[in-house]
Amino acid sequence: MRVLSGMQPSGTLHIGNYLGALKQWVEAQSSDAFYCVVDLHALTLEIDPATLRSQTLDLIATYLAAGLDPEICTIFLQSEVPYHAQMNWLLECVATYGELSRMTQFKEKSTRKTGYRVGLLTYPVLMAGDILLYETAEVPVGDDQRQHLELTRVLAERFNNRYGPTFVVPVGVQPKVAARVMDLQEPTRKMSKSISSPMGSIFVTDSASEIDKKIKKAVTDTDNEVRYDWDTKPGISNLLEIYSSLSDETPQAVAERYTRYGDLKSDLSALVVESLAPIQKRYDELMTDPVELRAVVARGALKANEVAGEVYRRAAHAMGLI
Ligand code: AMP
Ligand code: TRP
Repeated sequence: MRVLSGMQPSGTLHIGNYLGALKQWVEAQSSDAFYCVVDLHALTLEIDPATLRSQTLDLIATYLAAGLDPEICTIFLQSEVPYHAQMNWLLECVATYGELSRMTQFKEKSTRKTGYRVGLLTYPVLMAGDILLYETAEVPVGDDQRQHLELTRVLAERFNNRYGPTFVVPVGVQPKVAARVMDLQEPTRKMSKSISSPMGSIFVTDSASEIDKKIKKAVTDTDNEVRYDWDTKPGISNLLEIYSSLSDETPQAVAERYTRYGDLKSDLSALVVESLAPIQKRYDELMTDPVELRAVVARGALKANEVAGEVYRRAAHAMGLI
């Protein structure tokens, strides 16, 4: 089963990125799995060039530290496979302005400031190309990417109808729990790298004492009953999902073991610390050898270029390019 996913090198990952996406990637890795750092996507917002370069290396190291193995799957940089930019153009001539301007993420990010880049509008088309270039069947991503996945399917079907069968129509896959990890301080808002308060997000690089402090201070409610119920208890339900994702139990089963918030929080904090520790250790080791990190993605790009090149040529030919 062909699997592809990617993340932007836009800063340290939080546990939402890890549980919602990266952990699933590790579980789904095989010789048919492709995971990329979508560095071209990072150019849609202002980013310092040196920062982009260092965050790209960080993200490769994080992928490997979390358990992606370049001997098993293909790990590459989007910008090292030029077909992504080329496919983007073909698909921009399939997508409409209306459907792009209706994307939630675009509406959120474009209203935050004036003079946003055109790339912010066309971002989901580049993403659709990332996916379609690899004849992807499944795309493991967090819940916030559903709308982009739906657009990818629409574009693939429209293309196939207009130009003949060319693309595999992919589906997005979300984990059963923790597909949308919420901010610890504001559990009705998703945990995020950018806007969230530092106390609201646990980063994969956080120390044991930072993790402990953030979990102990996580917003709950006053009825003091440990119950999995998103409507009335979003704070506790969020903690239960994080626990469940790391322990492979259901959130209900975890809830049954606790009567006090304090006990749940202490155990969750220990579990998060214990789960992240080996990742942090490997990350520190990997970061001592940036040359090897570059070599991993250079090898990945060879395989990615082969697969993507074939699909790109098929699509270009179908549209009438000689
Ligand atoms: P981003 O950081 O927005 O580039 O997201 C990278 C990956 O993490 C995507 O698959 C997202 O769907 C996923 N993701 C981002 N935020 C969360 C969250 N709060 N909970 C679960 N998954 C998330
Ligand atoms: N839009 C995704 C995000 O913000 C990143 C992304 C770009 C992606 N291309 C992709 C995810 C292809 C999956 C497949 O998280």
